[in-house]
Amino acid sequence: MPHTSSTPPRAPTADAIVRVRGVSKTYAGGFQALKSIDLDIRRGEIFALLGPNGAGKTTLISIICGMSNASAGTITADGHDTVRDYRAARTTIGLVPQELHTDSFETVWDTVRFSRGLFGKPTNPALIEKILKDLSLWDKKDSKILALSGGMKRRVLIAKALSHEPKILFLDEPSAGVDVELRHDMWRLVRELQRAGTTIILTTHYIEEAQDMADRIGVIRQGELILVEEKNVLMRKLGKKQLTLTLQQPMARIPDALARWPLVLGQDGATLVYTFDTQQEDTGIAALLRALAEHGIDFKDLHSSESSLEDIFVSLVHTQPSEQKAPTA
Ligand SMILES: Nc1ncnc2c1ncn2[C@@H]1O[C@H](COP(=O)(O)OP(=O)(O)OP(=O)(O)O)[C@@H](O)[C@H]1O
Ligand SMILES: [Mg+2]
Repeated sequence: MPHTSSTPPRAPTADAIVRVRGVSKTYAGGFQALKSIDLDIRRGEIFALLGPNGAGKTTLISIICGMSNASAGTITADGHDTVRDYRAARTTIGLVPQELHTDSFETVWDTVRFSRGLFGKPTNPALIEKILKDLSLWDKKDSKILALSGGMKRRVLIAKALSHEPKILFLDEPSAGVDVELRHDMWRLVRELQRAGTTIILTTHYIEEAQDMADRIGVIRQGELILVEEKNVLMRKLGKKQLTLTLQQPMARIPDALARWPLVLGQDGATLVYTFDTQQEDTGIAALLRALAEHGIDFKDLHSSESSLEDIFVSLVHTQPSEQKAPTA
């Protein structure tokens, strides 16, 4: 199996619902958007695919959903090869695309009902009603799509993606341009779907959303999957905590007696910042506070803060591949 130099080999997952093997994509014109991606999505998980604009997220999703061809590699969705067995594979998948192109004269109701029919599923008005109600679209069921607002159209796209009861749901930037209410509706629905057994793969630029929702995180940068990790493990591994002490008396420099702690003195000399690793058993804080007391350094306030997934993400996408701390999955 091909692997890029910066990506450690990952063990295949026993119960993977999506298996991506050595997938590359070179667009006409020669631009390589994906470089030998290997990825297993576990059955029933919420997986967040993060990456800067142009990293290749939509390209990867389009290939998994069979809307675009890979230049190399293979993919299975619930055991079906997405090329050789396209129809069976596609039926297991619901896709909420990033781009809105839903301007039709059809009503919301007909659009969603028709979408289910396209996958050869028997009509199920009760299910369509539930989906529309879950997405607060019920009062719009007789409206024409082209008369809806952008956020309402996005709700319709979600309803369409759910209409054939897919086992795997892709949400490509579902939060882009939607209001707080829809976001709440959507995330409530996503959790409900997960409880019912659906596997969810989402991309988002709202990293706090991934932090709240995802079981695992994948980071893609310039067409390479640079990291795949359990969210909690990732935050423990790469997360940092900071303790900030506001001093009673500003100091010009850090006393030699405190040299064993990696302290940073604030610009005005009035704050001392101690950054420590959340993985360490002994954070060194107790000893630091004792040393401060011994040397008569008083402080009037102390507070600690923890890095967010956003901090971790920013540091990941801005380091060079050679500097990458490559956590093993
Ligand atoms: N049809 C195409 N032809 C040529 N290049 C393309 C095509 N579609 C996408 N690309 C290029 O491939 C790269 C990856 O694009 P992609 O849309 O997958 O990124 P993304 O990670 O989804 O970004 P965003 O966060 O902006 O949605 C970009 O450099 C893009 O310009
Ligand atoms: Mg995209």
